[in-house]
Amino acid sequence: MPTAEHTILRELLARDPHWVSGTALATKLGVSRVAVWQHMEKLRAAGFTFEAQRARGYRIAARPPTLYPPLIETLLKVRPRNFSLLVLDEVDSTNDEAARQLSAGRPTPFAVLARRQTHGRGRFGRAWHSDSTANLYASFAFRPRVAPERMPTFTLWMGLNVCELLAKFAGVTPGIKWPNDILFDGRKAGGMLTEARVDADQIRDLVFGLGLNVNSPAAGWPADLARRAVALAAVTGAPLDLNRLAAALVGRVLLAYEKFIDGAHLETFADLWHRYDVLRGRSITLLEGGRRHHGIVTGLDDEGALLLRDDQGKARRFRAGEVTLEKAAS
Ligand code: BTN
Repeated sequence: MPTAEHTILRELLARDPHWVSGTALATKLGVSRVAVWQHMEKLRAAGFTFEAQRARGYRIAARPPTLYPPLIETLLKVRPRNFSLLVLDEVDSTNDEAARQLSAGRPTPFAVLARRQTHGRGRFGRAWHSDSTANLYASFAFRPRVAPERMPTFTLWMGLNVCELLAKFAGVTPGIKWPNDILFDGRKAGGMLTEARVDADQIRDLVFGLGLNVNSPAAGWPADLARRAVALAAVTGAPLDLNRLAAALVGRVLLAYEKFIDGAHLETFADLWHRYDVLRGRSITLLEGGRRHHGIVTGLDDEGALLLRDDQGKARRFRAGEVTLEKAAS
């Protein structure tokens, strides 16, 4: 249900950077100018600053640095039937919240975003550092009803879409490190965690989780993380508009999911993989089930498995594992 804040934001954003008069806003909302002023105060409390001039009206001077649901909703360009957005101040894990909402019967698709997570999770049960409100913690829930055999390339496809979105949104050059890392120059800016509940022959429900370091200063990170991780703002050299990025990301993920279910992703998957894959031709160590494998990456197969030529020259195929890149020879 759009509120007065949604309407005001829609009008101001449509005219940005031009002015919108208080009278025009009052007419649009069917309220007095005093009531408009009160709604503007609410927006100010949420982190907006406005320029206000008696003769011209209002215009946005600065947007909130943390997630603000009416702004994300106003900026959303894609809104499939039944879609809903849940933005929480704090949650244990957006993936866990999405699973709870699925179990409670919430219609899909929906997205759960949180300003902070107290138990953000990564692969292998590792913790995902989630205490900065300047980053994105997001989970997307679906009921795909497709065969589980379709799913091995899902996270890779989503990662490619995240890379493409970041490249367009921020003019940066991200890379994807099989199977779930988003990197910039070898440092991790994002991680993906896909979790599914499977019935006998089909996926009952699916949660795609994404953590993205956007604006958090590295100063707030533990030392080992600061060595391996990077935030987008450090790559671009300037803070990003978190709400605009969140809206663009939600739209992109929803479209990417539909393409995947339709099979339309096959038209572009190989090209995008070629563009964003950081492993091909690189010397790596792959840890799988407690065993280390060393070799050169030769590519990816149709089922999303990583192809490796090991030190004995033998072709190997891995469906899962954790990759460490060897330093490139200089
Ligand atoms: C990894 O790199 O191992 C995956 C990290 C995934 C983190 C995201 S943050 C949003 C969502 N909620 C979670 O608890 N995890 C994912």
